Amino acid sequence: MQFLLNNEIVRVSDVEPTKSVLSYLREDRFLTGTKEGCAEGDCGACTVVIAELESEGLSLKSVNACIQFVPTLHGKAVFTVEFLRRQNNGNLHPVQQAMVDKHGSQCGFCTPGFIMSLWCLYNEHQEAKTIPIRSDVRSALTGNLCRCTGYKPILQAADAMFEVAPVTFDNDGLRDKLLALKTESPSTYSHTEGQLHSPTTTAELLQLRADHPEATLLAGGTDVGLWVNKQFRTLSSIIYLGDIPELKSITQNDQYINIAAGVTLSNAYKALAKHYPEMNQMWERFASRPIRNVGTLGGNIANGSPIGDSMPALIAIATRVVLSSVRGQRELLLEDLYLDYMKKDMAADEVVTLIKIPLPLADQAFRCYKLSKRYDSDISAVFTGMAITLDNDLVSDVKIAFGGMAATPKRASHTEQFLLGKSWDEATAKQAMTILKQDYSPMTDMRASDQNRMQSAMNLLYRFYLETRPVNPLTKEMTDVFGEV
Ligand SMILES: Cc1cc2nc3c(=O)[nH]c(=O)nc-3n(C[C@H](O)[C@H](O)[C@H](O)COP(=O)(O)OP(=O)(O)OC[C@H]3O[C@@H](n4cnc5c(N)ncnc54)[C@H](O)[C@@H]3O)c2cc1C
Ligand code: FES
Ligand code: FES
Repeated sequence: MQFLLNNEIVRVSDVEPTKSVLSYLREDRFLTGTKEGCAEGDCGACTVVIAELESEGLSLKSVNACIQFVPTLHGKAVFTVEFLRRQNNGNLHPVQQAMVDKHGSQCGFCTPGFIMSLWCLYNEHQEAKTIPIRSDVRSALTGNLCRCTGYKPILQAADAMFEVAPVTFDNDGLRDKLLALKTESPSTYSHTEGQLHSPTTTAELLQLRADHPEATLLAGGTDVGLWVNKQFRTLSSIIYLGDIPELKSITQNDQYINIAAGVTLSNAYKALAKHYPEMNQMWERFASRPIRNVGTLGGNIANGSPIGDSMPALIAIATRVVLSSVRGQRELLLEDLYLDYMKKDMAADEVVTLIKIPLPLADQAFRCYKLSKRYDSDISAVFTGMAITLDNDLVSDVKIAFGGMAATPKRASHTEQFLLGKSWDEATAKQAMTILKQDYSPMTDMRASDQNRMQSAMNLLYRFYLETRPVNPLTKEMTDVFGEV
């Protein structure tokens, strides 16, 4: 396999398939600017920038090196903090200079990660000839934690990096280099520790899946990477989905937004939020920018965690999922994919290939709410998606789904049944809140107690009522503690 490391070609044949990019950089290349903090995608000390050619052209993304496996770099370019000074003829890059000038660093451990997130933002805006506003900067830094400096000087540095002479990134040069890297390389990376297959078509993927039902499917690796780092699992056979252009497409017809399983969370939620602006906050609050840059919608759905964010929102709007295998395709309602805790209606040879999200229905009111301890980069304690249609103030259709309340993402069937045909008024909403107790018996864990979860779910249903009631509905600014954040 081969890739560009700080703009120079590197060929690799001797690293274990699950070696993290972070370990490779530090241990094999002595590029120790990239740090390890948490090894689970949370702190951003390991942030690097990965560039690749996509259908829309060259993309540069901030990524957590700690949970990416080295062979997935094949055909891509990785940039570490060491590159920046080289890019500016030995001088500090404007991003670095601004961090110095604004005192954006104390112990310095988090600093290379911040620098790389800011460098990515800097290049994006240099290319577009724009200056980011504060919310863009905050969003770009959602995956970086600092324990000593405090964020204000870092935000000030982000403003200051545009105040000095610009250093432009050679996008065209990189594009040419990446095109030249595209070789007829074998699609299987083999090592004594295991194999990583990289199919480039869906047909090839399905055949590999049929031949290797024991293999681990790897998309963005934001769940799988943790199995290796935190659970020390050995994955001797991996099928990587990241090199299949068909799995990265987003299309639309008069009924559905069709999102292929390998579309990143960033791109998927960008497409969804155009039709469902109510998903904007969920998009922003789903993990962090670097996680959304690589994590896929298909991975979120296929993993099927009871606390995953996408499922309750998508179930409430009757999303369908397509499973494919060499035997053919089948399509089911997303909620029917989940049988029990982490158990899915998915055969060993099947792969999630497409997610079909219905276009918004006229007269349907939809909301989704995330409750977590932190605003950014936090797993939900409770997540809900709710959709309601009224016919002369009477509930003609309603779908309510919760995450964090049961062993799977689950519809509130008793509550929905109760609501159908009722007048959508205060008394109905209050009664529906109590009926939710028939639908869920949540558990207590580090994120919330069972009582907290139940009470929160009831309150979210009430909030949904307040925002969607026929008379005097409350606006988002009135119900949301974060308002327009
Ligand atoms: C720091 C951090 C924060 C996070 N925050 C959130 C959050 O706020 N909300 C949330 O919901 N999740 C969160 N996650 C979890 C994770 O990012 C998501 O579940 C993500 O969508 C997984 O996608 P992936 O492409 O990285 O999946 P991977 O890790 O590659 O795969 C996940 C699972 O799905 C399987 N799989 C992947 N693609 C397919 C497919 N097409 N067909 C069949 N099986 C497949 C894999 O074999 C594996 O079992 C977070 C993770 C981290 C590390
Ligand atoms: S080391 Fe913390 S995100 Fe990678
Ligand atoms: S400067 Fe010490 S953690 Fe950020």
